[in-house]
Amino acid sequence: MNSNYSRIVGTGSYLPAKVLTNHDLERMVNTSDEWIYSRTGIRQRHIAADGESTSDLALHASRNAIAAAGITPRDLDLIVVATTTPDMVFPSTACILQSKLGIRNCPAFDVQAVCSGFIYGLATADQFMRSGRYRHALVVAAEIYSRILDWTDRSTCVLFGDGAGAVVLRRSDAPGILSSHLHADGSYARMLSVPGTVCGGKVSGRPLLQMDGGGVFRFAVRVLDEIVEETLAANQLRKTDINWLIPHQANIRIIHATAKKLGLSMEKVVVTVDRHANTSAASIPLALDEAVRDGRLRSGQHVLMEAVGGGFTWGAVLVKW
Ligand code: UT7
Repeated sequence: MNSNYSRIVGTGSYLPAKVLTNHDLERMVNTSDEWIYSRTGIRQRHIAADGESTSDLALHASRNAIAAAGITPRDLDLIVVATTTPDMVFPSTACILQSKLGIRNCPAFDVQAVCSGFIYGLATADQFMRSGRYRHALVVAAEIYSRILDWTDRSTCVLFGDGAGAVVLRRSDAPGILSSHLHADGSYARMLSVPGTVCGGKVSGRPLLQMDGGGVFRFAVRVLDEIVEETLAANQLRKTDINWLIPHQANIRIIHATAKKLGLSMEKVVVTVDRHANTSAASIPLALDEAVRDGRLRSGQHVLMEAVGGGFTWGAVLVKW
């Protein structure tokens, strides 16, 4: 029997100081607090300062997670960073973070799965841990979407925010992470994208987020239904065995649909979308950290995390806390 499981032994998060409310947005584009809140559940979002980089956000969240785990950066054997808004084309944000943490040598790489990035990163790190060769892994998701938004497009700029969340995994004889389930369908690439790149020293294409919001909404509700079923079946669990849902925080209506599918009351769902908006890959570890620090999660409980994002990518991780 495999005794190389991984457990989350520390969580951390970071939100930039600047808060942009729906009322602030009313002065920037033709929108209203009422429209944004009723369609999405969002009231405000945090925005990174001019000098702040994605690796800075990641560093704050990582330090908090490392401290919570009671280890030092030198104990880390692996760093995985999920981000769609890296500091630069290369090196990876994970390598930049490693240097800011003051350590060397452990493998460090980025995972790019847009809003599913934390789920992909956690699943990837868990596979490394199951090899038995690693004792501690840091999984971080950090995003600065404010820099890839068209601030004149009311249909997208109201939806996103900046932030970072991190977890430390420790190898363990017992789970921990029970299972992870990842999917992708690249035929939907154009439905949600930032269609730009760097070419010959110039920006080529339009490096600002564009989305068919209604199409994403319908796709998200369908595949999140499926991933919940798949995760329960793989673990021979019933809906009533799930104690907490920590969903990707894109839209409260999508979150309600998944909670309803699970028969979970909203008291068992961790919600941050009202205060953070959609922080893409960072939204789940931000919500997880909040629920850990306020004592909601208890030992032995089943915690289901799920996300869907550009690509499309989608997935779930089930944890025994
Ligand atoms: O992490 C994955 C990333 N993305 C998502 O998860 C997003 C998924 N989609 C959604 O959350 C929703 O589809 C939206 C919140 C984007 C839109 O909600 P909706 O209920 O599907 O609204 P809609 O697209 O049908 O828009 C309705 C109206 C339109 O006006 P008309 O054409 O009916 O006159 C829009 O022009 O609302 C208008 N509208 C706005 N009005 C005020 C669009 N954005 C705004 C706005 N303020 N910010």
